[in-house]
Amino acid sequence: MITPPIATAELERLERATADLDPPFALVDLDAMWANADDLQRRAAPKPIRLASKSVRCRALQERVLAREGFRGTLAFTLPEALWLAGHGFEDILVAYPTADRAALGELVRLPAERPRARVTVMVDSVAQLELIDAALRRRGDDPSSSFAPVRVCIDLDAGYRALGGRIMVGAKRSPVHTPAQAVALARAILARDGVKLVGIMSYEAQTAGLGDAPSGRPLRALAIRAIQSLSARELAVRRAEVVEAVRELVPLELVNGGGTGSLERTAAEPAISEVTAGSGLYGPALFDSYRAFTPRPAALFALPVVRRPGPGVATVLGGGYLASGPADAARLPVVHLPAGLRLDRREGAGEVQTPLLGRVADGLAVGDRVWLRHAKAGELCERFASLHLLEGERIVEEVPTYRGEGQCFL
Ligand SMILES: Cc1ncc(COP(=O)(O)O)c(C=O)c1O
Repeated sequence: MITPPIATAELERLERATADLDPPFALVDLDAMWANADDLQRRAAPKPIRLASKSVRCRALQERVLAREGFRGTLAFTLPEALWLAGHGFEDILVAYPTADRAALGELVRLPAERPRARVTVMVDSVAQLELIDAALRRRGDDPSSSFAPVRVCIDLDAGYRALGGRIMVGAKRSPVHTPAQAVALARAILARDGVKLVGIMSYEAQTAGLGDAPSGRPLRALAIRAIQSLSARELAVRRAEVVEAVRELVPLELVNGGGTGSLERTAAEPAISEVTAGSGLYGPALFDSYRAFTPRPAALFALPVVRRPGPGVATVLGGGYLASGPADAARLPVVHLPAGLRLDRREGAGEVQTPLLGRVADGLAVGDRVWLRHAKAGELCERFASLHLLEGERIVEEVPTYRGEGQCFL
């Protein structure tokens, strides 16, 4: 929460810099984003950060982040996205979620061996995904005139926490591979196949990296979250090390990836981890306001125009229903950033075409004024806007396309 004098100065700066723009539009405050990047690097050090592209969804910004010392490689969210990025010169792309896209796999198996730096790696957590890769390799057949790169695969290890013999399970329902024995069995299945190469292990601890440990106004929930996070982190550090050691006995691994914005320092401290992932912390969306270890600056904002004043204490803005994915609760709604003191109407929420905002502050707003909001999550904002206006100090210095603005819609 920003204090009133700072809020007023910040609102004036935003208004001055964007006076020529007509809302709705989205903006990234580069000063805030680079301060956030510094903080992510500090928290991850000495481990490099793989950039979670789903949390940025803007190629121009991803390129600039990856040019920084401390960031290395992309964690992509679909294989078509990874191939598109590779086509634009991105290197070392790890696709974080398994794919069943036959056309994209067909393209992957035809990546030429002479572009090894593109290094697109796909995620597997069972033999079923290996079968799909095999099918793509069979469709390709052998073409003696070309030399193809082997398909690089990474094992997704479940990072969930299990207690009472599995009766209590905490964490996202992701990979079925949980134990060292299961990881070794899958590694053996990979090594037994032609045309594929096992290069790494990834495990994402959603229950610590993506869940704030200081939810506002909920002290008991905060205590419960902290207790479970600490148990889970300790268990995972031991299990992850065992899995990595067991698989390394079969094959050398290039990468062991873990973590996310919310867990950087804890995950990076594990000796078995070679790199951590982060993305959301750059934009600093609303769901990342509730962590004790760090406070990102709000860097990604969107402005909506006030289009009517239904009565005292209400100003209605155009659009606004940009909800975040996840369990459909109030935390998925956008939050009003500035002017401070406005809130959503509980009955109407954030609307498809208009959003009433309540509070005494509304009486100071006229038709044509703007309200600044933040998305609950990071990259999803870019599915709503074709471009991002980049703010530096007092000026908009550039407008860059989002994935959507480049005509790309991966998920
Ligand atoms: C596999 C994986 N790694 C890391 C992350 C963390 O990304 P962020 O830093 O954007 O929260 C996520 C987010 O969902 C993820 O799915």
